[in-house]
Amino acid sequence: MSSGNVKTFIPPRRVLMGPGPSDVPSRVLEAISRPTLGHLDPAFADMMEELKGLLRYAFKTKNTVTFPVSGPGSVGMETCFVNLINPGDKVIVCRNGVFGGRMIENVERCGGSAVVVEDAWGTAVDPNKLADALRANPDTKIVAFVHAETSTGALSDAKTLCEIAKRHNCLTIVDAVTSLGGSPLKVDEWNIDAIYSGSQKCLSCPPGLSPVSFSEAAIAAIKARPKKVQSWFMDLNLVLGYWGGGSGAPRTYHHTAPTNSLYGLHESLVILQEEGLENSWTRHMRNHLAFRAGLEKLGLNFLVAEAHRLPQLNSVFIPQGVDEKAIRKTLLEQYRLEIGAGLGDFAGKVWRFGLMGYSNRVENVVYCLNALEAAFVASGIKLERGAAVTAAHLVYAAQAKMPT
Ligand SMILES: Cc1ncc(COP(=O)(O)O)c(C=O)c1O
Repeated sequence: MSSGNVKTFIPPRRVLMGPGPSDVPSRVLEAISRPTLGHLDPAFADMMEELKGLLRYAFKTKNTVTFPVSGPGSVGMETCFVNLINPGDKVIVCRNGVFGGRMIENVERCGGSAVVVEDAWGTAVDPNKLADALRANPDTKIVAFVHAETSTGALSDAKTLCEIAKRHNCLTIVDAVTSLGGSPLKVDEWNIDAIYSGSQKCLSCPPGLSPVSFSEAAIAAIKARPKKVQSWFMDLNLVLGYWGGGSGAPRTYHHTAPTNSLYGLHESLVILQEEGLENSWTRHMRNHLAFRAGLEKLGLNFLVAEAHRLPQLNSVFIPQGVDEKAIRKTLLEQYRLEIGAGLGDFAGKVWRFGLMGYSNRVENVVYCLNALEAAFVASGIKLERGAAVTAAHLVYAAQAKMPT
């Protein structure tokens, strides 16, 4: 029953510094608002080919099968698992946070058997443990792990983990939802077979699209499946009737692709290409270092050891006696600033500050440090006013003297 008084929804303006989505630049929002095309329109098909090329650039791959899945990161995740796992397959999953846990769920729901390599939350995946697990389970088909664990802010050594998996003739599935565009990631050089990401993190596009890429070995394994993929929507053999082929190739209807959202992803990748992928990685690190100096001045300690810390996801322990919900409420209501709460084991114990994509800017670093300091002071915490932002500026000043 309609009340008859519902008005146009105008979202409040926010500064997004949580674990995603990140701020979306106006160029991307403008791209999304352009006229809708049919998903089989030849002009749209040309844009699809460009989009695939731009994603190959972002993933550093030549994989032909590289495209955005119509759905959030979780759909990209399922696409990798449902296509590659056959019932009865043994899959090693390295778990060091929430999203590794979801991989285990995926393996089990596909009828596979998951061997779990556990690492403490907040640490990186230990390559030695993976090597031990592979020696103990020589019949393993696939190794899966999360490159950038958003629940903690830990970055794992994807290159070494894939090297070990390859020594044991395993295919690899890598979650790059938070790493793509923000941290070094080299799909071909590191021998990654199946990878998925999300549009809403370091690519700074609205949520709802999941870039994926599959190696030739992965596609061969999918083609050789003894049984159909149990998901109709995610079956690559069917999806590729639409996204596969090349320029001018015939395309058949699979589902009605979200055309306007795909213009947005195209624009966000054009922006990434203009900046340069490596420059984007460097920018993420530089702003993180300044932000870190400010957070430490505010008395906040990082959850993850420096060597494994993600620049785009900064998890810090909540100081004793601080009402974490009240601080987040002040930041949202008075400063229209969104930061992230802890997830899973770290709920109520950490805050997660995202510096992803377009949110990874000097002005966001300064704004957040000032707002946080003000929220702390208002809640009765004693600290030296202005010290956090000064610490960040000192880092920027030192960086300005460094070669780029
Ligand atoms: C590492 C990781 N994997 C998977 C996902 C799931 O992505 P989505 O929420 O877009 O479905 C997320 C979302 O935050 C994530 O951070």
